[in-house]
This record gives sequence, C-alpha cells and structure tokens, in this order.
Amino acid sequence: MLIAGNWKMFKGPGEAESFFDAFDAPAGVDVVFCPPYVSLAAAVATGRTIYAQNVHWEPTGAYTGEVSAEMLRELGVDGALVGHSERRQLFGETDENVARRARAALEAGLGVIACVGETLEQRESGDTELVLKIQVEALAFAAGEHERLVIAYEPVWAIGTGKTATPEQAQAAHAFIRGLLDRPVLYGGSVKPENAAELLSQPSVDGALVGGASLDPDSFAAICRAASTS
Ligand code: PGA
Repeated sequence: MLIAGNWKMFKGPGEAESFFDAFDAPAGVDVVFCPPYVSLAAAVATGRTIYAQNVHWEPTGAYTGEVSAEMLRELGVDGALVGHSERRQLFGETDENVARRARAALEAGLGVIACVGETLEQRESGDTELVLKIQVEALAFAAGEHERLVIAYEPVWAIGTGKTATPEQAQAAHAFIRGLLDRPVLYGGSVKPENAAELLSQPSVDGALVGGASLDPDSFAAICRAASTS
C-alpha cells in the first residue's frame, strides 16, 4: 500500500516542519509527501520519502517557473506527481506534455505518480472509459510498464468536493486502468479517515492520493493506519 499526501499550495517550510514534528507514521505502509517546491528541502531533511508536485521534461533551459528532474534529485527528492487535474484544468497541461514529464522523470531515476481521471460531464455522458484510455495510453506510450511508475485515478468531480467515488466505481475504474497498463493504481478524491478503509479494501485499489485530509497530521496518520490494515 502506498499513501501519498498532496499538499498543493499549502505549507511553507515552517508549517511543513511543524507537520512532520506532529506526524506519527504507522509501520507497514509506504508514505509519500508532496509539498510545494519551497518546502521540499525542509521535507527531505526529515528523512521521509518526498515527491514534488510536478516536474519539467528538459534538464535545463529557458522555462520560467519550471523545475527539472535533475534539480529535484540534487535536492534529495525521490519522485514527482505529474498530470494532476488542477495542472490539466487550470494550467493547460495536456496528455502529451504530462507524458513527457513522466518519461523524463523516470529516465532521471525519479518515481512518478501520474494522475488520470474524468470530469463529471465526461462521466455523465458515458465517456469515462474513453477518457481514461486516452490518458493512460499516452503514459503507456511514453513510459511503458516502468517499475517506478504509479497511476493515480482521481475522478475530477471527487477532488476537493467531499464527493467520493463509491468503492464499486473506484474498483471498476482501477480494474479498467490496470487492463491498459499493468502498474499499481492509487485512488484520489476526497479520501478521508472515514472512507479510507472501504476504498482501500477494493482488490484493485493499491493506495491513495490524499489532498485536503493530508494537511492535518492526525487525519493523514489515520488514513495511513487504515492502509496498514487493509
Ligand atoms: P482531495 O484532493 O483529497 O482534497 O479531494 C485529492 C487530490 O487532488 O489529489
């Protein structure tokens, strides 16, 4: 089981340190933290497994605001998220450049959690599998079944909304993704201590990518505990 906490644009270095002082991780579960770039160094200093929230495909260059895999490695960062729906929806990222980010990070020796998922409109019009197929195949084409690639299924309608996919919806999407690319699949979208155990008990759910509930050390630890027993 892998539980990743995506802090998004929360917690500068000081708050990150306070979080780690208060966080008590259970044994038997792999825990990854994804703080903002400015807090990566403080997070790496704790000895925990730290991923960035994004990564560029070139090692260096005129790409204002971007950070490369080589730079992350120099800092001791172990991996990166790519293709989060907020990057896709708010910052114009595409299946193609998400796949380039994933490939470059994997080639540089980083782990990658690549996010896919349908919007509410796509689900309601019956296009969930088509959207997942397009997104996952772009990743599969760029990275294949790389051993450090993990997929995160995050239905966009469940992110930060309090709405969670039912365990059955999650299981169906995960099994579909697994049929396209044989890599572990995390579930993301309003995972909380109250719903974690049920979601994580689904046979094709290999862990969780947690946003809001990863900001509080106690609620994130509770989710990690649910993972360690499922
Ligand atoms: P949420 O976010 O847990 O707050 O819904 C999940 C994510 O965006 O990765």
